[in-house]
Amino acid sequence: MTGTRTYGYTDTLDAEHYARALHADIRAGLTSTPKSTAPTWFYDARGSELFERITQLPEYPLWRAELGLLHKQARDIAERAGAHSLIELGSGSSTKTKLLIEAMDPIGLHYVPVDVSSDALRQASTQLVHDYAGVTLHALRADFTAPLALPKLPEDSPRLVAFLGSTLGNFDRSARGPFLHRLRGIMRPEDFLLLGADLVKTEQEMIAAYDDAQGVTAKFNKNLLHVLNRELDADFHTGAFDHVSVWNRSESHIEMRLRSRVEQRVKIRALDLTVNFEDGEEWITERSGKFTTEGLQAELTEAGLRTEQLWIDSNAGFALILTTRI
Ligand code: SAH
Ligand code: AVI
Repeated sequence: MTGTRTYGYTDTLDAEHYARALHADIRAGLTSTPKSTAPTWFYDARGSELFERITQLPEYPLWRAELGLLHKQARDIAERAGAHSLIELGSGSSTKTKLLIEAMDPIGLHYVPVDVSSDALRQASTQLVHDYAGVTLHALRADFTAPLALPKLPEDSPRLVAFLGSTLGNFDRSARGPFLHRLRGIMRPEDFLLLGADLVKTEQEMIAAYDDAQGVTAKFNKNLLHVLNRELDADFHTGAFDHVSVWNRSESHIEMRLRSRVEQRVKIRALDLTVNFEDGEEWITERSGKFTTEGLQAELTEAGLRTEQLWIDSNAGFALILTTRI
């Protein structure tokens, strides 16, 4: 590989910002009925590693379906967008993104991976800098639910914003509209948004994708308890909770929950809070929305985004959508 290695890392989530957001979400979430917290907190080093294992599970085909679609369509996507900057929200390992980077021509490309997980960002960036010397990489540790402070990017060419993995589904239905609208706000008229979305399939398939036979997803879910014990000086016992995956038909999402095996009290010292759990009480730790292409396109239109092109893997039930501002 030739070219100049340019790498920047900006952390907008210093310890104080991260703690403030974590404290607020966990206090509100564990004092509400039903208990419900944001999925953002899963992704410490162990959580990011467990997610990588999930992507290889037979029960979780959606990650590989998106990879397959990108294999086939990256060149078409790159040509349609004609972009020289790629901003990716919730980039994780950036594994699938490499297909886009290669199709967009790495020489002179500006890539901005945005993630809350410093471990995932640093690991992915080290690999990318090594593999694509021509790319200017600006890693941004940030919370994509808050306004984004993007680095300076070339003004004279379009930008492609990618939000892959069906991570849009991790927003509540009611929060998706405002989020998409805000995303539209960081796009200029010539920019594009590429979205990956998992489609509704049989209930059995959807539930199994979040409750695999090897128990990796259960470990991922319970990793939240380790994070809270460490970050908030709490005393959760992982053995006191069961992992549950439930299809919520009316909301069209899978809910990952933690079900208390007993009646118990948990101390969260950093919040000066004691939380009571009934025997069998369920705490929603993540929502994973499943889409129809019509429903998603309607949501996008409502947010001011027009579908340019739609690619579907109908066997696996996964869609990639390229949109622009209306
Ligand atoms: N897009 C990648 C990773 C998906 S996992 C793929 O498809 O393989 C979801 C990623 O989003 C994780 O890396 C996680 O750390 C990140 N994430 C979750 N909540 C976030 C938030 N609020 N802000 C920024 N990143 C977040
Ligand atoms: C990142 N996100 C889209 C994944 C999902 O499918 O909701 C996270 C995940 N949770 C359990 N398994 C995978």
